[in-house]
Amino acid sequence: MFRAMRRSELETIAAIDAQSYEFPWTAGNFLDSMLAGYRCCVYEEQGLIVAYAVMMAVVDEAHLLNLTVVPVMQGNGYGRAMLHRLIDCARDSGFVSMWLEVRPSNRVARQLYLAEGFQQVGLRKGYYPAAHGREDALLMVLEWQGVE
Ligand SMILES: CC(C)(COP(=O)(O)OP(=O)(O)OC[C@H]1O[C@@H](n2cnc3c(N)ncnc32)[C@H](O)[C@@H]1OP(=O)(O)O)[C@@H](O)C(=O)NCCC(=O)NCCS
Repeated sequence: MFRAMRRSELETIAAIDAQSYEFPWTAGNFLDSMLAGYRCCVYEEQGLIVAYAVMMAVVDEAHLLNLTVVPVMQGNGYGRAMLHRLIDCARDSGFVSMWLEVRPSNRVARQLYLAEGFQQVGLRKGYYPAAHGREDALLMVLEWQGVE
């Protein structure tokens, strides 16, 4: 079941984020996103959160800020399913494109985005914190206006 993220589960989601990233979001980061009106959603199966995402609107663009599948559930199609739902939501809401940043070292995520039609359109130098210094971000976009 795809649904809105609840305030009561932010600690759980932050704990999953901490297992998933070297530089995770805190519960406060997720709360700030909710309060800012970003679309914060989860995919729940049998009462458990399997995946979650945060998407921000910038005029007519959707910006995907976080997409995470619980580590033990990765590689089973949930990330792709979640991305499809997000793209459908964005399209239905009148957005014309989806933008995201991804670490060059994140092979799995890059593969997923490329397979779903995202194109690399830029590089943000030193965008991410890294164990030693900073890591660049690849800027990717999926545009659908005028395609159909
Ligand atoms: C990136 C992430 C969201 C993908 O979700 P997932 O459920 O693991 O991936 P899926 O099972 O839906 O697979 C989608 C595609 O990802 C790629 N992929 C998945 N697992 C992979 C692996 N172990 N090695 C290489 N590519 C892989 C493949 O291209 C796959 O497509 P295919 O099955 O047709 O080959 C998930 O792995 C995750 O949460 N990772 C940690 C957090 C993260 O990096 N988020 C993205 C930040 S930009």
